[in-house]
Amino acid sequence: MAMAARGVLAMVVAVAVVWCNNVARAQTPVFACDASNATVSGYGFCDRTKSSAARAADLLGRLTLAEKVGFLVNKQAALPRLGIPAYEWWSEALHGVSYVGPGTRFSTLVPGATSFPQPILTAASFNASLFRAIGEVVSTEARAMHNVGLAGLTFWSPNINIFRDPRWGRGQETPGEDPLLASKYAVGYVTGLQDAGGGGDALKVAACCKHYTAYDVDNWKGVERYTFDAVVSQQDLDDTFQPPFKSCVIDGNVASVMCSYNKVNGKPTCADKDLLSGVIRGDWKLNGYIVSDCDSVDVLYNNQHYTKNPEDAAAITIKSGLDLNCGNFLAQHTVAAVQAGKLSESDVDRAITNNFIVLMRLGFFDGDPRKLPFGSLGPKDVCTSSNQELAREAARQGIVLLKNTGALPLSAKSIKSMAVIGPNANASFTMIGNYEGTPCKYTTPLQGLGANVATVYQPGCTNVGCSGNSLQLSAATQAAASADVTVLVVGADQSVERESLDRTSLLLPGQQPQLVSAVANASRGPVILVVMSGGPFDISFAKSSDKISAILWVGYPGEAGGAALADILFGYYNPGGRLPVTWYPASFADKVSMTDMRMRPDSSTGYPGRTYRFYTGDTVYAFGDGLSYTKFAHSLVSAPEQVAVQLAEGHACHTEHCLSVEAAGEHCGSLSFDVHLRVRNAGGMAGGHTVFLFSSPPSVHSAPAKHLLGFEKVSLEPGQAGVVAFKVDVCKDLSVVDELGNRKVALGSHTLHVGDLKHTLNLRV
Ligand SMILES: *[C@@H]1O[C@H](CO)[C@@H](O)[C@H](O)[C@H]1NC(C)=O
Ligand SMILES: *[C@@H]1O[C@H](CO)[C@@H](O)[C@H](O)[C@H]1NC(C)=O
Ligand SMILES: *[C@@H]1O[C@H](CO)[C@@H](O)[C@H](O)[C@H]1NC(C)=O
Ligand SMILES: *[C@@H]1O[C@H](CO)[C@@H](O)[C@H](O)[C@H]1NC(C)=O
Repeated sequence: MAMAARGVLAMVVAVAVVWCNNVARAQTPVFACDASNATVSGYGFCDRTKSSAARAADLLGRLTLAEKVGFLVNKQAALPRLGIPAYEWWSEALHGVSYVGPGTRFSTLVPGATSFPQPILTAASFNASLFRAIGEVVSTEARAMHNVGLAGLTFWSPNINIFRDPRWGRGQETPGEDPLLASKYAVGYVTGLQDAGGGGDALKVAACCKHYTAYDVDNWKGVERYTFDAVVSQQDLDDTFQPPFKSCVIDGNVASVMCSYNKVNGKPTCADKDLLSGVIRGDWKLNGYIVSDCDSVDVLYNNQHYTKNPEDAAAITIKSGLDLNCGNFLAQHTVAAVQAGKLSESDVDRAITNNFIVLMRLGFFDGDPRKLPFGSLGPKDVCTSSNQELAREAARQGIVLLKNTGALPLSAKSIKSMAVIGPNANASFTMIGNYEGTPCKYTTPLQGLGANVATVYQPGCTNVGCSGNSLQLSAATQAAASADVTVLVVGADQSVERESLDRTSLLLPGQQPQLVSAVANASRGPVILVVMSGGPFDISFAKSSDKISAILWVGYPGEAGGAALADILFGYYNPGGRLPVTWYPASFADKVSMTDMRMRPDSSTGYPGRTYRFYTGDTVYAFGDGLSYTKFAHSLVSAPEQVAVQLAEGHACHTEHCLSVEAAGEHCGSLSFDVHLRVRNAGGMAGGHTVFLFSSPPSVHSAPAKHLLGFEKVSLEPGQAGVVAFKVDVCKDLSVVDELGNRKVALGSHTLHVGDLKHTLNLRV
């Protein structure tokens, strides 16, 4: 008893000490090259007039091998003799500064940061300026927190894996199933995070595109990402899985790529020299570092048994092109690997040089960041009203209206009572999804709606799992029976779909369908169904029910989700979001194995293929679906009917009949054309509208049924028209990937689609 009491007391004291330390540390950022110390500031690696490469070489020259390996891991060791403090590389900022990585935390000084919608909802806005605007706010808040010692400078976001299978628990983190949308999202968000202005290669913060590559199975029926071998054809790799990474590196100039846990065709990605040194560093010319997942080096040794001993695992990953290990594996085993001759010290030098250069571009070796650009940012710049307004705006832009028989928008004036029902009706934490940070504040759906009309709230089930005994049907139906209008908010949360948890069913969880039907039956007024989720659901029963007047999908809408929902339901904002993924019928989950990576259908076995580009079956809702409160009409202003490919003299296709020509070479030079479209708001309400330009190529090389060439979001007043111009680069945009992974331009007739509009374009030699 006495012992225990003393233990408690000791703990209280310990907590108090830690707390004081936190507060003290929280005032000061970590940095090297302190200008007030003449010894330190005189080092060559601190000399800001030199290039980053020269400074990195100077630093490297001062280190022993034992010291060098301390720079291979996320918890970078301190080197007091050179005035270099410990640095934690792992911070996250998927949709706002997050506390998930150990490099960032909140304190009384900065208790929260702006929490934007999960990327799957932001992607639904199809607005590339928004992707960038969010990145800019997040990096501003990150720098502000860095200046008071609460955040790192290296953020392992965004997640740009293709959302290939609707069951994937991490689909919510991604920009969806389309390679072009994912590419534009990656470039926009990364540029917003990284761009320091001034045009040089300085970084505001360093972003990281992950998880490279073909990673999209977490834990499905016992198949775990740690041991899963993704069997992927070269064709699918090059036209589905790689494009977002390629754009992220080449167009987004990202400072980092993370290799994944899974294997691709038998090799762990972090030990695949072709994928790392060959593609990322060689073909795409990454200016930055390649980092492992946490800890995929350990995983390839201990779980996959890919190497016989840990030294071989250290050697093969570093030699393949890995620069930094999230985990401690390389700090433990690299010296022994070098001593055993499995790895040369110069490989270690290459890796840490890549890491040093990124830290130099971030200003880590420039002394106190409060005296540098961004140095004036601090707690006052986090959760500002304009940042929080952007979180609300992002949710408004993303929310997708899937059905509306005329009940929406609601008139706040004529509604005396609203029943707000469902396990997500008063969701707060659920709205911010995963890889979250503490938000500035929450506006739940109930609070957002309640700010406009009188509400009666009934959860209907005690949680989203909605098992039979958690159902509270009679209270829910009674509320609906006596209200002028019913809003049902159902869907998922992290107990249903998350990292390390894929779904096995596409139906609403547990008894949610029964809740929806019973409430819809009992409602006196119109019923609005709101689905809050990352992944899609088969809600055919609601789509076809004449008791349900409207359906919306709100993703995980972030801290201001409830306010954004109310803005849309009451018509203060005209919805314009479009689905970034296909909504499959529930039977898809019974027929198709999640581990089957093939994108293309196989009619001989009834395999339906995946995503709108290839899938041949029925859908509940299709990629790109989404309604507005107004109508938009398209007409074609100009597009060519014929495009001639000028092949060099002597090209085989002058004499032979070719189905396609290479999408590279002289004939690609300036082979492009413009498509001009007129878009008119033909309804009575101003609104935003995404113009999608799709193309259906000739059916060679098992080409996609159609693919997105471009999208552009416009905002139009009632009656207003505008012209949207797309520049189509034939070799880049119209090409398809053949069976061997080569880009080819198919000859013959390509059909361009915009809405209901079709235009045939003939491509010939
Ligand atoms: C300056 O830095 C060096 C190297 O870290 C350290 O040994 C020395 O104590 C520092 N001097 C002062 C006055 O802090
Ligand atoms: C709704 O959720 C908020 C935030 O969690 C909470 O403060 C409030 O009490 C909840 N309202 C009801 C009616 O349960
Ligand atoms: C809804 O009403 C219909 C007939 O009006 C009935 O067949 C059905 O069982 C009801 N559904 C629920 C869930 O109460
Ligand atoms: C795209 O997003 C930006 C940033 O929020 C906004 O200013 C712009 O109006 C949006 N564009 C359209 C067409 O909605």
